[in-house]
Amino acid sequence: MQQNPIKAFVFDAYGTLLDVHSAAGKAMDDLGGKAEDISNIWRTKQLEYTWLRSLMGKHCDFWQVTSEALKYALRCHDMENKQRHDKLMSLYLELTAYKDAIQTVKSLNQLGHTTLILSNGSRYMLDKALQNSGLDDYIDHAISIDDVKIYKPSPVVYKLATDYVNCSPSEIMFVSANAWDVAGANSFGFRVAWINRFKRPPEILPGGPELIIDSLSELEQLY
Ligand code: LAC
Repeated sequence: MQQNPIKAFVFDAYGTLLDVHSAAGKAMDDLGGKAEDISNIWRTKQLEYTWLRSLMGKHCDFWQVTSEALKYALRCHDMENKQRHDKLMSLYLELTAYKDAIQTVKSLNQLGHTTLILSNGSRYMLDKALQNSGLDDYIDHAISIDDVKIYKPSPVVYKLATDYVNCSPSEIMFVSANAWDVAGANSFGFRVAWINRFKRPPEILPGGPELIIDSLSELEQLY
């Protein structure tokens, strides 16, 4: 079947371009052997809270969700303390970009492709993280869910990208490391590449990836 040409590459931010575990990784001195578990609980709760708040109709921005998820994760280990909490939150604005992220976004952008981000992140968080990681030089625009006040995988969120580009869903190549986001984006109609960073099986949900890649650099060879 003849495919529509791609009008934009749209990347998920957290977990796909930015390493969410780098915040706890930079606080190893303080978190010690608990760092990995705290980071895993933090990320899991952060996502659960986005889904739950969306279903409950009780939106708050991603900064608050991230802060509440961190509070829960620290509490699990009886390590709640304001200084530690504030330090980890500030590290979340300085997440390290994956090596293949900088290289691929830069190369796609230099080849003349439109490079966008579509993220649950608040505008403030995205601006800071993109500046601090150096990704902002190669991303044409970051779209936040702030205006629609609902989180992925609501179709309302994916529509923000087609509205921005003024194209149909099948003209977008969406790239995410989050398999549930892959399902949501393809259900909406995007073409999707799943970077399977965490070596997981695909989700058993409607929608799935057209491509499964091990490194974002594979996109450079394809397009
Ligand atoms: C995002 C989350 C899902 O960036 O990682 O939207």
